[in-house]
Amino acid sequence: ATDLTGRHFLKELDFTAEEFRSLIDLAAELKAAKKAGTEVQRLRGRNIALIFEKSSTRTRCAFEVAAADQGASTTHLEAAGSHIGKKESARDTARVLGRMFDAIEFRGDAQATVEELAAHAGVPVYNGLTDDWHPTQMLADVLTMTEHTDKPLEAVAFAYLGDGRYNMGNSYLITGALLGMDVRIVAPKTYWPADDIVARARELAGASGARVTLTEDVAEGVRGADFVATDVWVSMGEPAEVWDERVAALAPYAVTMDVLRATGNPRVKFLHCLPAFHDLGTAVGREIHERHGLTELEVTDEVFESEHSVVFDEAENRMHTIKAVMVATLGGSGA
Ligand code: CP
Ligand code: NVA
Repeated sequence: ATDLTGRHFLKELDFTAEEFRSLIDLAAELKAAKKAGTEVQRLRGRNIALIFEKSSTRTRCAFEVAAADQGASTTHLEAAGSHIGKKESARDTARVLGRMFDAIEFRGDAQATVEELAAHAGVPVYNGLTDDWHPTQMLADVLTMTEHTDKPLEAVAFAYLGDGRYNMGNSYLITGALLGMDVRIVAPKTYWPADDIVARARELAGASGARVTLTEDVAEGVRGADFVATDVWVSMGEPAEVWDERVAALAPYAVTMDVLRATGNPRVKFLHCLPAFHDLGTAVGREIHERHGLTELEVTDEVFESEHSVVFDEAENRMHTIKAVMVATLGGSGA
């Protein structure tokens, strides 16, 4: 079996397709065991530090519930109430936490910070989202895809519409290329992933047999897709001023029922890492609505609430897949 004991989980590019798939398989096993009431605790007595420089609902809860299920404890740290991000360097923080904890999760802006923690912690470090990558989300999305298709992953086509230059776009492109999928990034050219990331994706595709497409054309991009995914148009940490340019550039890439119909696949499924702006009923949503006059953003309420939408399976799967990362890397897999 694939042994990931002691490994970090920083970005998809650090993994082989076999390693990535082993985490999906382990997550499916752990999910089935939890549902059957036969889960075996493999992380008893372990302690996990969770650092959040940015907000989180799913990722934090996924780590905490997964750890509790497996018998481990968690400690939540953020800038307020700790020295992280202010008085103490990432390097020193890593060396301190590495003496007390068995693993460290980090969510923040810079990929360099999570890499720095990993270089100095002496224990596995997990990326809970940076500006560049959202690798634990990819495990959940791929698990969700396997649950909602009869096809092998190599035969699955998925299209991501929206900002392709940020964590979700980058991660989808690389994950699809790694796993040999038919992956399409559908966005205005200025919102495509950076050239070096596209180059890495094409290299991976050469080895995996993946099809990698970047296109500005929605109809072409979604044709034949099994899954259509999107993300918020403005990510955490970006200034509110960018809403104007995002709305102008990305409105044609909103996921509507017409977009789902354009796939030609009546069984197409919709994915979104969440949180989503589909009804603008939240405080932030109302502010955007007032400033820009829009009632719906990256996805319509109709799509979000439709039978195509599997976003809450995807959210649940954050927990099972993050559990798999901890179990696999902390050597508790028994494999
Ligand atoms: N999808 C995701 O990462 O959600 P949170 O920001 O709530 O953790
Ligand atoms: N791109 C989004 C993803 C949230 C899970 C962000 O970074 O805010």
